Amino acid sequence: MSEFLSPSQARDVYGLESRYFAPRSEIEQALMRAGIAAIEMPLSSDDFQQLSNGMAVCLDECPDLLAQTFHKADSRYGGEAGFVRKERKVNADSGLQTADPKSYFHFTESTQGRWREQFAQGPKVMRDFLESGFEIQDALIGVAKTVVRDLESSHPNMGQLYFPDDDSFSFLRLLRYDGYEPYVSMGEVAKPHYDISGITIQAYADAPGFWAAQDGVQGERRHYDTNEHEAYTFLGKGHEKVYGAADNLQPLWHGVDRIIPAGVTYVPERTAVILFVDAPNVDYHVKQTDTLPHLLGSHALAFAN
Ligand SMILES: [Fe+2]
Repeated sequence: MSEFLSPSQARDVYGLESRYFAPRSEIEQALMRAGIAAIEMPLSSDDFQQLSNGMAVCLDECPDLLAQTFHKADSRYGGEAGFVRKERKVNADSGLQTADPKSYFHFTESTQGRWREQFAQGPKVMRDFLESGFEIQDALIGVAKTVVRDLESSHPNMGQLYFPDDDSFSFLRLLRYDGYEPYVSMGEVAKPHYDISGITIQAYADAPGFWAAQDGVQGERRHYDTNEHEAYTFLGKGHEKVYGAADNLQPLWHGVDRIIPAGVTYVPERTAVILFVDAPNVDYHVKQTDTLPHLLGSHALAFAN
């Protein structure tokens, strides 16, 4: 017996359902119309940049400590917490760059106590970086709660699914891509995919390129830039596993294009911050072919989220 509820058990335990004739909030109307909704963001771009720069400073001043943060987190989502460095990947046959060099960092609820203790005697830059991550994660969980509250009239008890007894289970992803000199053979920044998550808060991106296609793999791609004090929310495959493919809210097919203005000789570092919100007590059993359906029958790639 798994310690987690399956989607059908979760529907029974929490009394989950979709009420098709309930009044719709603005967020829900946008999710139905476009698969994605703009939401109010209490944090500023300075808050996110400070977090990103904090990681860069730690990488410079205490890389060993930063590396010590890495550990395997919850296995349901292929989860990792802490710092990861990814170098550039180039396809040997085509010469195409398939992955940009980047640093990323995952915060989870369970890492707060762990890292506060682990780095209590550590350098101030490290402690400051971690604390700003915790603060941002807490603030974004607050944003996610607002979104869920807005969906409750048509999806009763959704709050209990994601925030039972005020608990939460989320991954805050900080992505910081290296700056680079552009050249010809460069693919997209992030390949198209569905998220594993229940709910995604696309909190911040300081460069254009994020796109979403409401109608899925073959759908028309629309770009969405982040504006100050605004963010986006959309759903992942976890939502579909729990609420079913007939629900009025569907997971969103999305990716990040590379957009380089003509004549630019150097593309500076760029930062994105995303919160993935999941149900603490449920295992959605999302498979790789759920999030990357075009891979069905072909070789497995890294599990994108
Ligand atoms: Fe994603």
